[in-house]
Order: sequence, then C-alpha cells, then structure tokens
Amino acid sequence: MTTANAPGKIILIGEHAVVYGRPAIAAPVWQCVATAVVASAPPGSGVTISAMDIHRRFSLDEVGEDEPLAVVVRATLAHLGVQHPPDLQIELHSDIPIAGGLGSGAALSTALVRALFAHFGQVVEPEVVSAIVYESERLYHGAPSGIDNTVVAFGQPIWFIKGKAAEPLRPAAPLTLVIADSGVPSPTKETVGAVRRLWERETERCEVLFDEIAVLAQRARLAIEQGDRQTLGRLFDADQTLLEALGVSSETLDRLILAARRAGALGAKLSGGGRGGNIIALVEPERVDAVSTALKASGARRIIVTQIERRSPPSLPSRRPEARELR
Ligand code: PMV
Repeated sequence: MTTANAPGKIILIGEHAVVYGRPAIAAPVWQCVATAVVASAPPGSGVTISAMDIHRRFSLDEVGEDEPLAVVVRATLAHLGVQHPPDLQIELHSDIPIAGGLGSGAALSTALVRALFAHFGQVVEPEVVSAIVYESERLYHGAPSGIDNTVVAFGQPIWFIKGKAAEPLRPAAPLTLVIADSGVPSPTKETVGAVRRLWERETERCEVLFDEIAVLAQRARLAIEQGDRQTLGRLFDADQTLLEALGVSSETLDRLILAARRAGALGAKLSGGGRGGNIIALVEPERVDAVSTALKASGARRIIVTQIERRSPPSLPSRRPEARELR
C-alpha cells in the first residue's frame, strides 16, 4: 500500500490576470491536504477509485474522458508504461474545501499521481506531476493558466507566468496569513468564464486592469523578497480593488475583507476565482487572534492560519512529501 499527499494552495496576487499572460504569485497551504492511498485489490476487480469526500466511486473501465480523476489515472499509467493495469483500489481523501479557491482538485490529482508512481516503485519529478495534473484541471476549469497544478506539484511559493517555467519565491521574512472560507462554493470555471465574457465586451478596459494587476504582482514580488509586509498588505488591498472592477468579488467577500482590515490586517483580498470561496488577510503574528475572531463574527465558516516561508513549516514534516527546490 502506498500513500501520498499534496497541499492546498492560495493565490497571493494576480488571479484572473494570469489567464491573460500576466504574472501571479501562489503558495502552498500545508494546513489542509489531499491524500491518496493505492493498494492491490482482489483479482478481477479492476481499478476502482473512491473519493467519498466528493461522493464519487467508480471503476476506471466505466468512465470516460470527462471524469478528471480517471484522466489522471490513465495519464499516469501511460507515463509509467503500464498498458494492462493490475487490480488496484485507490482511495482519495481531502480536507480542502471544494470549489473554494484552495486548489482542491489539483491537490487530489497531485496526491493521486504521486501515490501511483510510488506504488510502481518510481520516483516522479514535480514537472511531470504538474503536466499530468494540468490535463485534469482543464476539465475542472476550462482554460486554466496552470498556476494551481504548478504550485501544488512543487509545494513551495512560486512566481508564475503562463507557459513559462515557474520561479521559486523566497520570502525574506515569514508571512502570516489568515485564510477565511466564505462558505459560498464558486466553481472557477464560472468566474473564469464571466471574466472572459467581460473581456470580450470590454477588451481595452480589461487589458488595462490586467496590466495594473501585473504591476502590483511585480511590486508584491519585491516586497516578499525584501520582507516588507506593510507594502505587501497595501498591494493586497489594491489588487482587491482591481478584482472588484473585474466583477469577481461579492458582498460576502467584501464583508469579510472589511472585517479583516478593521481588525488590523495589513491587507486583505479574495484568493482564487472569487465570487465565493476564500479571502486571505496578511497579518502581523500578534493580530492573528483578533483578525480570526472578527472574521468568524462576520460569518467565516472556517479559518486557516498559515505561514509562507522559504520552506514549509518544520512543524509539519509528516505532511510534506519529499521536498525539492525548483531549479
Ligand atoms: O482554482 P482557483 O479558484 O484558485 O482559481 C485559479 C486562478 C484563476 O486565475 C482564477 C484561474 C487560472 O486558471 O489561473
């Protein structure tokens, strides 16, 4: 039996604009993970996959190319050169909220690829994992930029531009973030589609907004690399204003963001597709409790506190797969 896991993720800055070729910054969140367990099954039972958290249980033979997890299994077996798969039972679990902008789909697929490679006794490079997972992300998202599969597969903060090799980002000082779940599910495919329609109607205005987001992302990269949390907080707020102009915020998200700012966050914004899902607030460590309390009082369903560092927190070694630096 082999087990592998993969983290959730947040986008710090640049979501949506990243689909249009602008840079974005993302980081893994090891406080919530997806886990895949692969075990040999009784002869003749074929390959069965069960993901009870998303109410799915099926045999590989009975599903087509519209089932993302089956796409991942087939692509991984092809990569491994396994033409006639042995009988396998694959179980998937996740405590990452679904359709919440925390990359639950990418994490499930990543854990699955890693566990299958481990089952067949092979080591897999993050680039390979990322490429396989991208195929399934296309089914969840439509036309994904590739940021989710990349950050989850590499498991470290990244600077990402669509179609280019991701660069590792090395924060000069740890960043403490409070992540608050609005409890409103919002499939990324829908918000990406809404931005696409806006872009088709108002191309020039959208391109200007994307350029402005790109400038914020550049400045955020500098702020992260210089350990300048005050500036990064202000950049979060500015990015949120641009995301509102793109129409991907919502009353619920605005309320949570305002609550975090009023409770002393350095800055706050939606993270991911928007219109629901999660917001992130950058805080000084001593403000974590006050900001978390304010967010809960404003209706947040779940709070996750994470630290973004050059490496994942040493307190979580058992949740972390073999670490590997980008480049
Ligand atoms: O999966 P989400 O909701 O975190 O969104 C991913 C970020 C987007 O920029 C909205 C889409 C993409 O493919 O980059």
